[in-house]
Amino acid sequence: MTPSTPNLPLLHVQNLSKFYGRTIGCHNINFELAQGEVIGIVGESGSGKSTLLKCIAGTETPTNGSVFFNSSFGFLDLIQADEILLRKIARTHTGFVTQNPRDGLRMNISAGGNIGERLMANGMRNYTQIRKIALDWLERVEIDPERINDLPSTFSGGMQQRLQIAANLVCDPKIILMDEPTSGLDVSVQARLIDVLRKLVAGLRLSMILVTHDLAVARLLSHRLYVMKKGRIVESGLSDQILDDPREPYTQLLVSSILKP
Ligand SMILES: Nc1ncnc2c1ncn2[C@@H]1O[C@H](COP(=O)(O)OP(=O)(O)OP(=O)(O)O)[C@@H](O)[C@H]1O
Ligand SMILES: [Mg+2]
Repeated sequence: MTPSTPNLPLLHVQNLSKFYGRTIGCHNINFELAQGEVIGIVGESGSGKSTLLKCIAGTETPTNGSVFFNSSFGFLDLIQADEILLRKIARTHTGFVTQNPRDGLRMNISAGGNIGERLMANGMRNYTQIRKIALDWLERVEIDPERINDLPSTFSGGMQQRLQIAANLVCDPKIILMDEPTSGLDVSVQARLIDVLRKLVAGLRLSMILVTHDLAVARLLSHRLYVMKKGRIVESGLSDQILDDPREPYTQLLVSSILKP
C-alpha cells in the first residue's frame, strides 16, 4: 500500500495541543514523519509524551490542531475524520502500543485471540491460517507458542508488552506508535526486543513514533529525536547529534541523567 500522494510526508502533525483543564498535556506540537522513518520522543516524566501519542492515535481528543495522514484514503486530518473511517484506518493502517499493556490488550481473550482478532477484523476467516500466523508472531516476539491459549492476565508485564506489539504488527500497519515498549523488561529481554523491533522496522519499512525514557533505546531505534519539556518540544534533530551534542540545557541535563527521563 503506497501513500496516495508520494511527495507528501506520511504524517504531518500541526499545531497540536491538549489541555486537561488548566494543565498542559502537550502544546503546539509540529513535526512530520516520512515513510520508513523512526522518530523518538524523549523528555522527563510528565512532559507530555503519552498525551501527544494518544492524540495522534485518536484515544484522546486534542484541544487544537491537526494530524494529517497520507494514506490510500487520501491526505486527511485524523482529528476531523468520521468515526467509521477512523476505525477502518486504526484496523488497517496504524498500530498503537500503549504504555500500559492492559490498555492495549483484551485481557479476557487468549494471547492467540488478541493477535487473531485484528486479522479477523481485516476479513481473514480461515481459522487454521489465523492460528498459524498467531503462532508465528508469538515466536517472533519470543513468547513460548505453547502459551497461545493462555489469557494475557497470566503473562508477566514484559510478555504482555510483547504480545501487544505482536497484536499491533500482525496486520502490517503503515505507522506504529509505541509508548515505552521496553520499560519494565529485564535487560536481556529488552535487548532482544530492540533487536526484534529493528528488524521489523527495516524489513517492513515501518514508520514509527517511539516514546521512550531510555535514551539508549532512542539512539538505537530512532533516526530523529524530539525532546519534550512541560508539553512543548524544546529541541529536535538527528538522534546521534542530539545525544552527543545537545544544545538545550534541559536536553543536556536529560542526557547526563541529572533529570529523570
Ligand atoms: N487524563 C488526564 N487528566 C488530567 N491530566 C492529565 C491526564 N493525562 C495526562 N495529564 C497531565 O498531562 C501532563 C503530561 O502527562 P503525560 O502522561 O503525557 O506525560 P509523560 O511524558 O507520558 O510522562 P511519563 O514519562 O511519566 O509517562 C501531566 O501533567 C499529566 O498530569
Ligand atoms: Mg507516558
